[in-house]
Amino acid sequence: MPMVCRVVFNQKGGVGKSTITVNLAAAAAIAGRSVLVVDLDPQANTSRYLLGEVLAQATPTLTEFFEQTLNFSLYAHVMDDFVHATPCPGLFLLPAGDSLAEQQSKLEARYKIYKLRESLQEFGGRFDEIWLDTPPALNFFTLSALIAADRCLIPFDCDAFSREALVGLLGRVAEIKADHNPRLEVEGIIVNQFQARASLPTRMVEELAAQGLPVLQPYLSSSVKIRESHERAMPLVQLDPRHKLAQAFSELYQSLAK
Ligand SMILES: Nc1ncnc2c1ncn2[C@@H]1O[C@H](COP(=O)(O)OP(=O)(O)O)[C@@H](O)[C@H]1O
Ligand SMILES: [Mg+2]
Repeated sequence: MPMVCRVVFNQKGGVGKSTITVNLAAAAAIAGRSVLVVDLDPQANTSRYLLGEVLAQATPTLTEFFEQTLNFSLYAHVMDDFVHATPCPGLFLLPAGDSLAEQQSKLEARYKIYKLRESLQEFGGRFDEIWLDTPPALNFFTLSALIAADRCLIPFDCDAFSREALVGLLGRVAEIKADHNPRLEVEGIIVNQFQARASLPTRMVEELAAQGLPVLQPYLSSSVKIRESHERAMPLVQLDPRHKLAQAFSELYQSLAK
C-alpha cells in the first residue's frame, strides 16, 4: 500500500485541527498502521498533546530540520533523527520546536517551500501514513504542508463565519493544487463540536452538503473528555476507546481508510 500524506487545514484557530490530527493519526496507529505526525504549528499544541512533559527533551525538532535546510552542514541530521516515539504504539512525532516562528521569513526568502515534501519522501516505505498539522494561518508552514500532502481535511466548527470562510478556503486549496501540487485532493470537511440537538448547526451542515461540499460522516460531537485527554497527553481514542467521541474518531478514520 503506498504512503498516504494528509494535511489538516483551516486558517481559523480553535476549530479542532490539532485534536483531530492527533486522534485520527492515533486511530490509524491503533488499526496497525505505522504513522508519523508532523507538527507545523509553532504553538506546538499537537506536540504537547502527544508527548506531554517529555516534549522538552525531544530534540532535534522541526526547528533544527528547517535550520539545516538554511545552513548546509556535513554533520547534518538524517530524517530518522527528527522522528520521536510517542506513548501510543506505532505513532511517531516530528515535533514543532522553539523559535520555529522566527525562522519563517528566512525560509520564505530562500524559497524552501518544497523542502518538507522532498524530505518526507526520503522516508520511503517507513510510514504508512503521514499527518500534517498546520498553524491557523496560510503561511510558509501551511503552504509547505499543502505542497507535501496528497489529501486535505478541513475541520469545520459549525460557526456562521466559518461557513463564509469555507468557499475562500477551498479556493486557496484549488490554487495551491494548480500552482504547486497537482496530487492534492480535498478529502472532505470534518464537522467538529456538532450539537445534534440545536437546529442551527444541523441546518448549516445540511446546506453545505446541499451545495455539493464533501461533508464527511460521522460528525464529531463536543465532549469535556477532550480536555482531560489533552491534560493527560493521551489521544482520546487511546485514553477511552469506548467513549462516544472516541468511537466517532475511529469510525471517521475507518471511512477515510476505505
Ligand atoms: N470535539 C471537541 N469537544 C470538546 N472540545 C474540543 C473538541 N475539539 C476541540 N476541542 C477543544 O477546542 C480547543 C481548540 O482545539 P484545537 O484542536 O487546539 O484546534 P486548532 O488546532 O484548530 O486550533 C481545544 O481546547 C480543544 O480541547
Ligand atoms: Mg492547532
